[in-house]
Amino acid sequence: MNKFARIIGTGSYLPPKVVTNADLEKNLDTSDEWIAARTGIKERRIVTNESTCDLAVVASNKALEMANINASELDLIILATTTPDKIFPATATMLQNAIGASCPAFDLQAVCAGYVFALTTAEQFIKAGSANKILVVGSDAMSRILDWNDRSTAILFGDGAGAVVLSSDQDTGILHSDIFSDGKYLSSLQVNNNFINETGFIEMAGNEVYRIAVNKLSSLAEKTLKECNISSDELDWMVPHQANIRIISAVAKRLNFPMEKVILTLDKHGNTSAASIPLAFDTGVRDGRIKKGDTVLFEGIGGGFSWGSVLIKF
Ligand SMILES: CC(C)(COP(=O)(O)OP(=O)(O)OC[C@H]1O[C@@H](n2cnc3c(N)ncnc32)[C@H](O)[C@@H]1OP(=O)(O)O)[C@@H](O)C(=O)NCCC(=O)NCCS
Repeated sequence: MNKFARIIGTGSYLPPKVVTNADLEKNLDTSDEWIAARTGIKERRIVTNESTCDLAVVASNKALEMANINASELDLIILATTTPDKIFPATATMLQNAIGASCPAFDLQAVCAGYVFALTTAEQFIKAGSANKILVVGSDAMSRILDWNDRSTAILFGDGAGAVVLSSDQDTGILHSDIFSDGKYLSSLQVNNNFINETGFIEMAGNEVYRIAVNKLSSLAEKTLKECNISSDELDWMVPHQANIRIISAVAKRLNFPMEKVILTLDKHGNTSAASIPLAFDTGVRDGRIKKGDTVLFEGIGGGFSWGSVLIKF
């Protein structure tokens, strides 16, 4: 019998240091008005001494607590990150040790699409019957790979982590998942180093990324709803990757989906890459907007490009 992968716990964490648009004005030729109008971002959190693993540990422990399970019960940990603490070992193994788990643990890299890729991967383990409880985490400290003198990228990103615990369930859970990559867009959004041990910074053709993100995410949302045979009216919430309010609104408009039913955190978090979807989801769950039984669409796109969607019944 087909098993579903159901979310039974959520958690998130943001480092305490707040950097507002006004703070950025001090060192960059930019303004709060420009950033807010073009992106929707007002402030973001930035790590000081915290590692990617440190952020993930707090988010994971909160998700385990809500799921009411002990880390020793986990069968697998998947950590989506673009900013691992070391080239090796995987940051997921540091997380495993820190939370007291003993299961296999690996990192997954699909930049801002990392979370939908990680959920899709985790679902396969549950459907195959090879795992019952999986911790899926998105944790990123994008501030480490930003050129703080580049106003076109430094304003966009923030740091944080989000996590969910998936459990095998006979009745409901992930209804559909879909992932894609097209490597021809490498130069549109990348870290500009040539070798893995050479330091580089994010460089981006913002206009091109914007246009492609709207096209890919709108078409994918339509495809997902069609394949699941549900209308946008039957969707309770959209929890999109939090990159730009204009990208999110354009996708919602194309679906004829009201913005009141879109969970938005980018005003306070900025783009936290693989962490943005689980951070926003946890926010909506903990403030009581997203309820058990709700149908929720996750969507994300990132460098590569890679993009994907996951439709769930919570
Ligand atoms: C980056 C982004 C906000 C730029 O907005 P935009 O409306 O496309 O702006 P443009 O790049 O066309 O730049 C318009 C002008 O603003 C300037 N500008 C760029 N960044 C600026 C900043 N932070 N403050 C003030 N002015 C800025 C540009 O230099 C340009 O000036 P010019 O007209 O004199 O040449 C937008 O393209 C975007 O969000 N793209 C998607 C990025 C993204 O989501 N990346 C992550 C994907 S996971």
